[in-house]
Amino acid sequence: MRILVCPPRHFAVDYVINPWMEGQIGRVDRALAERQWNELVAGFARHATIEQVDPRPGSPDMCFTANAGLVAHGRVVPARFRMPERAAEEPPFADWFAQAGIELVALPGEDPFEGEGDALFQPGEPLLWAGYGVRTALETHVTLGETFGVDVVSLRLVDPRFYHLDTCFAPLPEGRLLYYPAAFDERSQRDIARRIPAERRLAVEDRDAIGFACNVLRIGQHLFLNQASDPLRAALAAWGFETHVHPVGEFLKAGGGVKCLSLLLDQPPFDPIVPSPPSAIRSTRVELEGHLLDTGGLNRALDVVTEAGGSFRVTRLSLAERKDQESRVELHVVAPTAERLDGVVSELMAVGARTPHAERAARVEVVTQVGVAPEGFYSTTIYPTEIRLGARWAPVARQRMDAVVVVGREGETPRCTLIRDLVPGDRVVCGVEGVRVRFPEAKRSGDFGFMNASVSSERRVESTVKEIAWEMRRIRDRGGRIAVVAGPVVVHTGGGPHLVRLIESGYVQALLTGNALPVHDIEHDLFGTSLGVDLARGKPVHEGHRNHLIAINRVRAAGGIRPAVESGVIRGGIMHACVRKRVPFVLAGSIRDDGPLPDTIMDLERAQSAYARAIEGVDMILMLSSMLHAIGTGNMTPAGVRMICVDISPAVVTKLADRGSLESIGVVTDVGLFLNLLAREIAGADD
Ligand code: ARG
Repeated sequence: MRILVCPPRHFAVDYVINPWMEGQIGRVDRALAERQWNELVAGFARHATIEQVDPRPGSPDMCFTANAGLVAHGRVVPARFRMPERAAEEPPFADWFAQAGIELVALPGEDPFEGEGDALFQPGEPLLWAGYGVRTALETHVTLGETFGVDVVSLRLVDPRFYHLDTCFAPLPEGRLLYYPAAFDERSQRDIARRIPAERRLAVEDRDAIGFACNVLRIGQHLFLNQASDPLRAALAAWGFETHVHPVGEFLKAGGGVKCLSLLLDQPPFDPIVPSPPSAIRSTRVELEGHLLDTGGLNRALDVVTEAGGSFRVTRLSLAERKDQESRVELHVVAPTAERLDGVVSELMAVGARTPHAERAARVEVVTQVGVAPEGFYSTTIYPTEIRLGARWAPVARQRMDAVVVVGREGETPRCTLIRDLVPGDRVVCGVEGVRVRFPEAKRSGDFGFMNASVSSERRVESTVKEIAWEMRRIRDRGGRIAVVAGPVVVHTGGGPHLVRLIESGYVQALLTGNALPVHDIEHDLFGTSLGVDLARGKPVHEGHRNHLIAINRVRAAGGIRPAVESGVIRGGIMHACVRKRVPFVLAGSIRDDGPLPDTIMDLERAQSAYARAIEGVDMILMLSSMLHAIGTGNMTPAGVRMICVDISPAVVTKLADRGSLESIGVVTDVGLFLNLLAREIAGADD
């Protein structure tokens, strides 16, 4: 076994290219570093043959030979450093490989690759673990697999402190592994677990990880590392390894440990394979078009790619020069597996990107179990969606988010369906092929000064109310529909009479609420109190807490709200107005409900469906101080419906206004005040 090292004669921290180097410029004790290095290399030399490359002045990091390239079977894929600070190391390393008779296999393109620092063989198996996300580009993993005849598992590094794979991952013989899971994203952790069973995985604790305990050089059963806690040492001993702790604190200042200081020139033998397909890595072309700069659309798209575990290259870029022009960007997007590419593409589609995936026919799988979707289901957004069936594009009916798309028989319209409503035989769209999302072009701010997605603060409430009133009148006058989602605060804050006015003037076509609003509305009609508080005087009344129970009891006696109105038990208020004006109401119950009223639907699946039916085809939804019912409604509302959310708590308003659709507007204010202003505005215009 041969190991390449490089004496730290010019070692220093002269620049900062990883978090460990911060604050360490000029602080390396070179003499101490050389002593640590000599001791370490003497340790290696007892079990392996040491080869040396001469250090280059001006390349202080060259002692970290792990980054020189990846070597196996007499071939090397040399590094292409991501950081310009280290680029000058490439020629001396390449020269050394050439004079040692190692065949150089250059990487195509310009993507960075930082050698064994980011690529580690599973000893004795045709399997290479390769890191990406910080230094090495995912694209380079394809070449590694082809050059060495191995399967490559691409692992995404997400913690900047563990910027090279070898800082947090050490494959060991017999399919074992020492690693620090938190350095990887969720899906990479799952990919690791899929390949290595739990009893062969040793996860180190934070203190060992930070002490570079995973940065291990293994020679036979000997493990060389900077630090190992007692439990770690014991666990490794139980696996039959002897740990040799060699403190290399001076090198830690540069972000490197024992493994970084060494490069394996021989790998334990394995039988190369011709991986089929040659690599799990998949790529595709994606196009973005529109007002990408002024709306941040480009940023959003690029972030989506990275966060979903992909990597991108901008292959075409034509930027708008004026505000009224559109930009066009073409990206080459790469992901470690077909499955992950699907994930990246569907997230890109949700921010308006176009992909050639869409041009293929939709992939459909059949449901076999009631209320269970095929694993690969496409999940919907709020935006108008089309499905490619044969040669035609069919629009999806009942658009809503978090549903799946069921395509019916020939000629039937595909429709959004909740997973729980699936029945065996339903054909569900899977993957992202043949799915096209019509993203609103108007996803640019400042285009319409009028009512764009924003949260209004107190100062602007009055002008916002004016705009809302204007739009409500237009909707009513053209025969459109407005739904109101309201919470009991409407009654408590004295907004009841104003809402009644809106209902009576024909501005409300459906009322969606829970049990509490009708209870307090009816209590107020019967006793003048809301939860026992006299609304006119703002004072609790004697024995008032019974009032809402009496109200519930009387409605129960009458057999429901409608009969209670018709028989004269209820003589005014919101529910009275709904019954009189034939405005349908849906009451969705919850665990905290008193009573409930006979009209309250306590079966939540039924309640959700009733809500969904009630908002079908509405033009606007007014959400008045009801977090749960408003968010529930938002979840079933397609893009294009104007959503106005009024709440005293900015958190609630932001949550709803934030769903990314242009049509939602938030108003942070007292809902009683809001309704007062709105009713006045509308009455004023109506007379
Ligand atoms: N300062 C060097 C860098 O940031 C340290 C390299 C450590 N090498 C390694 N294989 N982890 O590039």
